[in-house]
This record gives sequence, structure tokens and C-alpha cells, in this order.
Amino acid sequence: MFNLDGKVAIVTGAAQGMGESHARKLIGQGAKVVLTDLNEEKGSQVAKELGDNALFIKHDVTDEDGWKKVVSETLAKWGKIDVLVNNAGITVTKSIDDTTEADYLKVFQINQLSVFLGMKYVSPEMIKNKQGSIINISSINGLVGAKIGYTDTKFAVRGMTKAAALELAQYNIRVNSIHPGAIATPMVMQEDTRAAVEQFAKMIPLGRLAEPEEVSGMVVYLASDESRYSTGSEFVVDGGITAQ
Ligand SMILES: NC(=O)c1ccc[n+]([C@@H]2O[C@H](COP(=O)([O-])OP(=O)(O)OC[C@H]3O[C@@H](n4cnc5c(N)ncnc54)[C@H](O)[C@@H]3O)[C@@H](O)[C@H]2O)c1
Repeated sequence: MFNLDGKVAIVTGAAQGMGESHARKLIGQGAKVVLTDLNEEKGSQVAKELGDNALFIKHDVTDEDGWKKVVSETLAKWGKIDVLVNNAGITVTKSIDDTTEADYLKVFQINQLSVFLGMKYVSPEMIKNKQGSIINISSINGLVGAKIGYTDTKFAVRGMTKAAALELAQYNIRVNSIHPGAIATPMVMQEDTRAAVEQFAKMIPLGRLAEPEEVSGMVVYLASDESRYSTGSEFVVDGGITAQ
């Protein structure tokens, strides 16, 4: 089950946190993975550790030419793209009043525009092969509200996923969104947020934050042919928080 032998995947934001974990798990199940990130030092270190089935490419997900380069280098190395995991993202903590236009555009570009660019430049390669799985990482804040900017982009990712799923189904390309709850990654485990996060954990029915690999299991499932009849759907991994 969940055999990914022969599949080629791209994971964005793979230098740390969930992206790193997704890359690790996909390779563990037999895939070849291109890890991309702004952080060249950490990203290349992770890829080196993962061995010959990993390739790191420095990439800013907001940069259109960067996407063209990632696609062409992936094809040059492994000849095709079966799976795209649009994972890179940032969080924001400001109020509406404190959020500047520049702040708003930044989170829009990294969390939302990047998902559009990824689908735009990778889907033509999947269309050629009449198959593919695109996995867009949203959040529970694509289902219920939190801070301005973050919530907006994560709801958008959920909607874009459905629009792309409808358009690409004719080519046997599936597009789904994953909605993680509170996951113990560098994004949330900062010194100044740790106490609030631990308080939040008490409200989670399963009583704890998740480890990144607990979301990677869902990524592996959606990347595999076992999920071949699922498209345009929301996959929630949140310890029950949105069930309340
Ligand atoms: N951690 C959580 O609790 C949580 C919950 C729900 C959803 N998410 C989502 O999961 C995804 C991964 O989150 P994480 O917690 O692993 O975050 P993280 O901050 O630990 O890692 C994010 C990675 O993305 C990279 N990145 C940031 N901007 C980039 C850019 N412009 N181009 C390329 N790479 C860039 C960073 O360098 C970093 O390596 C994000 O989309 C986030 O919104 C996280």
C-alpha cells in the first residue's frame, strides 16, 4: 500500500517543518523528490541527508521564472512530474489595523499566488502524461477563521483547489487540499508563541499538537494511486479541533 516507486514529486518549503517531513516520507515510500526552498543552506543539507532520490533547488515560490526553472530542472533530472506539494507558507499575527498593504501582499504572494504559479507551470507536464496529483497545503484556517491575511489565503487555497480539480479531472489529474491543525514545526514553536501554543493544545480533543510526520501520512496517501478517486476534496488533519 502507498507504494510510490517510480513517482517524481516536487515539495516546496522543504528545508524544515512539514515540507521536510513530506519529502522524507515520500522518499521513504519510493518516490524521487525535488525539495525547493528559499533557505539554501538547510534545504541542501536535508537533500544531502536524503540521498540520491533527493534534489534541492533554491526557489522563491512567488517568482514565476523560479517555477519555470524548477520544472525544467526536474524534467532534466527525472523526466516527468507526478506529484506537486504546494507547502511553502508563512503565518501572520497582526490585527487588521496593524496590517500594512505590503504585509497583506506578502502573505498573499507566498501563501496564495505561489499555489497558482505551481499549478500553472506543473500541470502542463502532468497533462502530457495524463496523470498527476497536486496537493495544496491549506490549514484549518481555510475552514474556520483566524488572523486576517492568513485566513484569507488559506480559504483561497481551498477554493483554488476545487477550481483546478474541476478543470484538470479530464486529464486524470487530481487536486486536493490538506487542512492541518496545530503542528509542532518551527513556524509555531517559536520562543514567544510556545506558551500560547501549549495552552491551545488543551482545546484539541486529542489533547496535543501533531508531529509533522502525522500530516505527511496524508500527503503520501494523496500522492499514491490508492487515492485515485479523490479530487477537489478537503483532507483535515487536526486532532478533532474543527469537530467541536
Ligand atoms: N505548523 C502549523 O501548525 C500549520 C498548520 C496549518 C497549516 N500550516 C501550513 O503548512 C505549511 C508548512 O508550514 P510549517 O509549519 O512547516 O512552516 P515552517 O515555517 O516550519 O516551514 C516553511 C518553509 O517554507 C519556506 N518558505 C517561506 N517562504 C518561502 C518562499 N517565498 N519561497 C520558498 N520557500 C519559502 C521557509 O524557508 C521554510 O523552510 C505552510 O503552508 C503553513 O501555512 C502549518
